[in-house]
Amino acid sequence: MIKNPIVAPSLLAADFTQLHQAVDLIDRSEAGWLHMDSMDGRFVPNISFGMMVVEQVGRILEKPMDVHLMIENPGNFVAEFAKAGAQIITVHYEACPHLHRNIQQIRDLGVKAGVAINPHTPVSVLEHVVEDLDLVLVMSVNPGFGGQKFIFETLYKIRQLRQLLMDRNSKALIEIDGGVGLQNAGKIMEAGADVLVAGSSVFGTPDPESVIRQLKALGNLPTYEI
Ligand code: DX5
Ligand code: ZN
Repeated sequence: MIKNPIVAPSLLAADFTQLHQAVDLIDRSEAGWLHMDSMDGRFVPNISFGMMVVEQVGRILEKPMDVHLMIENPGNFVAEFAKAGAQIITVHYEACPHLHRNIQQIRDLGVKAGVAINPHTPVSVLEHVVEDLDLVLVMSVNPGFGGQKFIFETLYKIRQLRQLLMDRNSKALIEIDGGVGLQNAGKIMEAGADVLVAGSSVFGTPDPESVIRQLKALGNLPTYEI
């Protein structure tokens, strides 16, 4: 048996003219968190939304906000995202020459700290920080856009990361982001993931609540062979 994932639908794929409806849907569904992608047009070739949207969504959302910062110099902004109500803040390894300091900054704000790695970045770069982390986000597409194809190599990285976390006695959760849907979520969980981010596979379907329920129910299925 595999365990039940925390399902974190990504707001990026929602209809921005109907944000209230999307928030209500998340709150009444079996989603654990709402994943929110902030992009600056510099670290990634796209611009999405910032702390003002996070703050306003946080006023009506009951569940935790899982904020994924795809921005340069995230240390300059983590305090504002914390103030906006983020319960989890994830920065990118590739955007942080002083990653250790940025992790401490987030923890000092009383927020859970995550680090994301791009598809080409090996999990070993996190060896000396995993003990301080609540979450490691493994990008399974190149960051910047929703609706891309899952990179199969990610399954290998998840297994490596699970081993690294055990070796370093880290309780960090493993979150997978990009191209996740019902077609591959079982294999992703089997490889060792804890949290599934799902954008287009949830909000791009006629019945998002049902997809969330099915993702959450993965732990009720027999083990998959990979
Ligand atoms: C991509 C973002 C993802 C995105 C996932 O850079 O980090 O969170 O919303 O979208 P899907 O699930 O459609 O690949
Ligand atoms: Zn994301």
